[in-house]
Amino acid sequence: TSSPSSPPLETLITDKFAFAFDIDGVLIRGGKVIPEAIEAMKQLNGENRYGIKIPYIFVTNGGGKTEQERCIQLSQQLRMEVSPGQFICGHTPMREMAETFKTVLVVGGEGEKCREVAEGYGFKDVVTPGDIIKDNQDTTPFRKLTSEEHKNSRLRNFAEVEIEAIFVFADSRDWASDQQIILDLLMSKNGRLGTRSETFEDGPPVFFSHNDVVWSASHDLTRIGMGALRVSLEAMFKAVTGKDLKTTAFGKPQMGTFQFATRLLQQWRNDTHGINSPPDTVYFVGDTPESDIRGTNEFDNEAENNWYSILVRTGVFQEGTVPRFVPRATVDTVLQAVEHGIEREY
Ligand code: G3P
Ligand code: MG
Repeated sequence: TSSPSSPPLETLITDKFAFAFDIDGVLIRGGKVIPEAIEAMKQLNGENRYGIKIPYIFVTNGGGKTEQERCIQLSQQLRMEVSPGQFICGHTPMREMAETFKTVLVVGGEGEKCREVAEGYGFKDVVTPGDIIKDNQDTTPFRKLTSEEHKNSRLRNFAEVEIEAIFVFADSRDWASDQQIILDLLMSKNGRLGTRSETFEDGPPVFFSHNDVVWSASHDLTRIGMGALRVSLEAMFKAVTGKDLKTTAFGKPQMGTFQFATRLLQQWRNDTHGINSPPDTVYFVGDTPESDIRGTNEFDNEAENNWYSILVRTGVFQEGTVPRFVPRATVDTVLQAVEHGIEREY
């Protein structure tokens, strides 16, 4: 028995098109769901005028928790099930680097969360800033570990440890002390704390899980994000050493992230809907011109991809400004974005 508002059980699934969603500023803002997102998801799940289901995935630059944990949270917020099989966050592609680097510094996020994420990706030896402060509390003159942090941090002798790479997994909760520690490593001989390189050219590489300078949180205006930490670190390195620092960012708008998303969508459509052929069009709904729209448009320009960018007005992009990267469509909310895609198809 189905009520008039719920779709028939054997709803048809389209293999012609699919959706991909950014999260912050599109579905969620400051930890709260954007109300239209719930209706938008219902439409994708078959409650639309054509009674058709549309496959979809989520591609966020955010992170700081395991994919599994993020999906549980998102499922509660959107009031439907979200599976890790349809979800990528900023640090997801970093798991491919666990084979390359053994001892790594992982920066950002709440408590021990990012250490857990990195170990889950297979990184063998994960160091946090807390471990370094625990070994030598003079490292950060204005930051003392809380008793909780002290308990969770691992005691080791960093004079004997070589840190091979630095990964910023999520937003730093303490820029000054995290930057001090990153800078110490960048200026060291081969990632050994307490040493200083003569050339400042043999420190470990630095990877950021994304490059968003600003993002959309609960404040009315945008807030600075990980990309801001990145420019700050590069400027500081230059000021202190006189040298240029080259760092690497994952996430949107990197083409690698869109390729990763394409493989995820292919797998998801195959596993859950039995669809083998690629979709004709993927609609990407985002709020940040520099990452969502830029990445979608550049990916669309590559041969055989057909991605269509839709910008919403619920996040970073503000009406009255000119987006640096021009979307195929601009709409008020994610619900209108879904309706726009559906109407364009039928
Ligand atoms: O820190 C997360 C933020 O920069 C962007 O997240 O979901 O808008 O890609 P999202
Ligand atoms: Mg966003």
